[in-house]
Amino acid sequence: MHSVDTFRDLQREATEWRRYLHENPELDYRVHNTAKFVTEKLASFGINRIETGIAETGIVALIQGEGGEGPTIGLRADMDALPILEASGKPWSSKITGNMHACGHDGHTAMLLGAAKYLANTRNFKGSVALIFQPAEEGALGGLRMVQEGIMDRFSISQVFGMHNSPGMEVGNFGICDGPIMAALDDFDIIVKGKGGHAASPHRTIDPVVIAAQIILGLQTLVSRNTNPLEALVISVTKFNAAQAYNVIPDHVEMAGTVRTLVPDLRDFAERQILAAAHGIARAFGADVEFKYRRHDPVTFNHTEGTNLAIKAAGNLVGAASVDDKFKPRMGSEDFAYMLEARPGAFIFLGNGSTANLHNPAYDFNDEALPYGIGYWVNLVETTLAA
Ligand code: NI
Repeated sequence: MHSVDTFRDLQREATEWRRYLHENPELDYRVHNTAKFVTEKLASFGINRIETGIAETGIVALIQGEGGEGPTIGLRADMDALPILEASGKPWSSKITGNMHACGHDGHTAMLLGAAKYLANTRNFKGSVALIFQPAEEGALGGLRMVQEGIMDRFSISQVFGMHNSPGMEVGNFGICDGPIMAALDDFDIIVKGKGGHAASPHRTIDPVVIAAQIILGLQTLVSRNTNPLEALVISVTKFNAAQAYNVIPDHVEMAGTVRTLVPDLRDFAERQILAAAHGIARAFGADVEFKYRRHDPVTFNHTEGTNLAIKAAGNLVGAASVDDKFKPRMGSEDFAYMLEARPGAFIFLGNGSTANLHNPAYDFNDEALPYGIGYWVNLVETTLAA
């Protein structure tokens, strides 16, 4: 097992890759230049099985160990950026106005490339490693599409692992937990249909604004009074559109919001009871509702065996005291969840130091974290596929 010092030389090279990627951010499935850069690097490391064009611009590359027969494990990095105008002030700021690597996927890609170079040179493991570079993590389901296009079966992947940087966590620290680590993401639309009229004569209307306001409060009661306080449910109403005038009661109000949960029961409960509460409250005042509920990313669920391997790999790199193995789940979501539905494995957080938060215009991936991410991947491979 290696300490982080093994990866200091690679850090210098990975820093150049990371800053190049940062300067050239691309969105969703349109990560063409990024995918080309990754493919060329992988080929230059002497990796000969590289499949491109999976889920449009995704890549899977296979490195065979020299330790004999064994299973294949998947390591995944995301490659896409966000439509944010960068304000980090860094010399390597985005050259594409309006696009920005504000979630650190440039760092994730550079770390997996660094690990690829090391593993292709040493091959000190049995079986194989599948390097998964996915497009479109930010809300466009690139991970799901790679699974649907059959990567798990085609490359005989038996376990799969993911990693994300975490601002606010010290560089050289890791965070992970067994079970749910990130939330399921759903959203909903509610249209409250009343009867419009003059705002001076409310008794001649069915005012959908007042009814919608009661529905918003009612939804918060689902969280505070109907959900076990030790379980997590987030319901946030985030859109509210009514009339555009001071003296008009509109005939309908449109609202929308998001739901985050960590367990399937609560997800079902939220879908069922948001409708019941909205419908019941509207009916009580003579209005009606239209309701739409959409399920997106599932819970990112860490499996016990994969979690233990990840804890061991990180612990061997930085010492057990720097690995928080009782990490509190985050209520954000992650489309790596689809890969963990297809195969067992684990997702881990890596400290990014005291940088701006993810998706903030001032954010930048911390290059000091690169050797830790590279080292984690290498240790994970050499632990899981010990020759
Ligand atoms: Ni991200």
